[in-house]
Amino acid sequence: MNAFDLKGKTILVTGASSGLGKQTAITASEYGARVIITGRNATRLLETHQLLHGEGHLQFLADLTIQSDIDQLVAGLPMLDGLVHCTGISELSPARFITEEIISRTFRISFNASVLLTAGILAKKKLTKNNSSIVFISSISTRYPFVGGAMYISAKAALEAYARVLAIELAPRGTRVNCIAPAFVRTPMLDETAENFSRETVDKIEQRQLMGLGDPVDVANTIVFYLADASKWVSATNLILGGG
Ligand SMILES: NC(=O)c1ccc[n+]([C@@H]2O[C@H](COP(=O)([O-])OP(=O)(O)OC[C@H]3O[C@@H](n4cnc5c(N)ncnc54)[C@H](OP(=O)(O)O)[C@@H]3O)[C@@H](O)[C@H]2O)c1
Repeated sequence: MNAFDLKGKTILVTGASSGLGKQTAITASEYGARVIITGRNATRLLETHQLLHGEGHLQFLADLTIQSDIDQLVAGLPMLDGLVHCTGISELSPARFITEEIISRTFRISFNASVLLTAGILAKKKLTKNNSSIVFISSISTRYPFVGGAMYISAKAALEAYARVLAIELAPRGTRVNCIAPAFVRTPMLDETAENFSRETVDKIEQRQLMGLGDPVDVANTIVFYLADASKWVSATNLILGGG
């Protein structure tokens, strides 16, 4: 077997109804994985499902800010070889307008959801021992912050810290844990950020990016590496995509 392919592996991808999660699910299936996809929007999740290559894929609707949805998802999961967390929102706000509600809304999906889903999967023993992989999507903005991003970036920084601890905790059972930190990628989230916050800010950040804007497949190919046996000696990393 080619160390870069995913044949025989079952991978859960969250946020699979849009952007990076959608492309990750499609690319993983192209590399031979059986993919379990989850998201909230039924129409867009079905669209992703229809674009998957091969057979045996499953889809689950779930709002990952609701504990009972997480519990139901975990109960329905088959045994996994990999888990990719692609959920997130990009609600931006200047520091003086941050409220308790904004903190909570951002952290609930950009941090708590991934942590609680991981906890559920580990507690119910749904992740294989020996050679399994968990991937989190942080953001380059934890190194190169931008105005208005205080809560988004803080949640990502918390996720990076959590992933480092998880890597130590799960290494003895043969699970590797890695983060990727992409620069701006062409997804609905980027369009939404420009529309709701400031086109000018987004344009400025784009101009600063060493390798320009990314495409979802650039991120998905990197994630496939982290899921494949090719990365079996790689853990506790946080890889910047897009050149810094
Ligand atoms: N795009 C970029 O430039 C960029 C750069 C660096 C990092 N990232 C990170 O990459 C990840 C994916 O971003 P993206 O650009 O692909 O965003 P996106 O296109 O907006 O997709 C976000 C996904 O998160 C899901 N989601 C949101 N709230 C949810 C909830 N409560 N329960 C379950 N799922 C929920 C959405 O599902 P529904 O649509 O079904 O609600 C959607 O599938 C995020 O963590 C983002 O911060 C993105």
